[in-house]
Amino acid sequence: MSGNLSATDLERLDDLISDQEKLFLARTGESQRIREECSDVLPGGVASNWQDAPPGAVWIDRGEGSRVFDVDGTEYVDLHGGFGVGIVGHAHPAIVAAVSDRVRKGTHFAQPTEDAVVVARELARRFGLPMWRYNNSGTEATMDAVHLMRVASGRAKIIKIEGSYHGHHDSVQVSVYPAADEAGPADRPNSVPVGTAVPAALARLTIVVPFGDLAAVERVLGENTGGVAGMIIEPIMMNIGLIPPPPGYLASLRDLLHSHGAYLAFDEVKTGLAVAPGGAIEWSGVTPDLVCLAKALGGGLPCGAIGGSRELMGLIAEGTYEQVGTFNGNPLTMAAARAALTEILTDEAYAHFDRLRAAMVAGAEDILHRYDLPGHVRAYGAKGAVIFHDQLRNYRDFLAYPDQWGNAHWLYQHNGGVFLPPWGKCEQWTVSVQHSIADVQRFVSNLDRMAADLRSDR
Ligand SMILES: Cc1ncc(COP(=O)(O)O)c(C=O)c1O
Repeated sequence: MSGNLSATDLERLDDLISDQEKLFLARTGESQRIREECSDVLPGGVASNWQDAPPGAVWIDRGEGSRVFDVDGTEYVDLHGGFGVGIVGHAHPAIVAAVSDRVRKGTHFAQPTEDAVVVARELARRFGLPMWRYNNSGTEATMDAVHLMRVASGRAKIIKIEGSYHGHHDSVQVSVYPAADEAGPADRPNSVPVGTAVPAALARLTIVVPFGDLAAVERVLGENTGGVAGMIIEPIMMNIGLIPPPPGYLASLRDLLHSHGAYLAFDEVKTGLAVAPGGAIEWSGVTPDLVCLAKALGGGLPCGAIGGSRELMGLIAEGTYEQVGTFNGNPLTMAAARAALTEILTDEAYAHFDRLRAAMVAGAEDILHRYDLPGHVRAYGAKGAVIFHDQLRNYRDFLAYPDQWGNAHWLYQHNGGVFLPPWGKCEQWTVSVQHSIADVQRFVSNLDRMAADLRSDR
């Protein structure tokens, strides 16, 4: 009888979290000291808000292969992967060579270098979209996608999924993690701006629908005839755990949008290059009008990209949409992206991800079963998550999924020498070409320890 969680189980999780937090703080004294000391110049004592998670930020000294070392000298198997960037691992010799070579020849000209062509051709081959441009982050990639859909259609509104994160520009900072009391009806969610930084008037241009619900998109298109430029969607949702699309959903979505003169953009900032060589486009067999990449693309350096049809990308070529940026196609990031794509992320790399994933999924599923824990394991390519909740199809299911599970799991992994991304129930693991079976077995044994502790008082 898996899945039924008693109030006693949750209380037990609270106790375990409290014990694990004490251990965590005792181990990370130097991190906490630096954080405290620098908070007069770095707001919150970190460089980005999401580098901090309870009970405290962890400052990193260095990374090597599959491992990272914090400033207290603790070594971890890195399954955080810098929020999904790290599928080549740390200091990969091919990246070190490419970047060192480029550094000696100059790192920035704001003029194109030849690596930009090699990378674009390789992306076109993998993703089946003919034309590409670069930028510097996932935020810029999804911003370009929204702009292009607006310019192409001459319409202002966009559709996005409730609970999806596409970066921090205004159009997509709507209903990212809305509170239950402001989210509105499940089948007709409110457009909730993320804080007061996003004016309500702008948020109204972003219409929110539940993941996997084709009828909701059809209704929105019907109610806004001639008003919707397009829809942006993570084809496999990866910021509220990990949720695959229902069968046929992505293809139907594209056809539906097209029949209303609107476009479809895939946000593959997390899935691109990670779930398959050609991302979720290859995985699903559905080619959208635009695709956004970032994270893994730069081989550890900051790089974003947008790929698209000739129709849409032609608007850039003719100057109707000014796709610009001082650092776009920066030579250093292009050298790293070229090495990542052509030397590291080979077919053998994806076969290696398959082996690691199989070991993690089998180990975690066995634990859920043996200890009668709720939930399931979802994993694609280099990414995966243990979801300690029986049903996770959309944001409303996510709201019902108790936070304690992800918090406890993150702490047990961390104290056991495995660095997962924080915000447990939102995130997923990332493995790299440099991870070994022994690395992922450490993950499985930490999970086993947490399950054993949870059940020990029964
Ligand atoms: C799906 C998705 N899109 C966009 C972004 C924004 O990317 P960046 O942080 O590089 O701006 C993220 C970041 O986590 C993401 O997960």
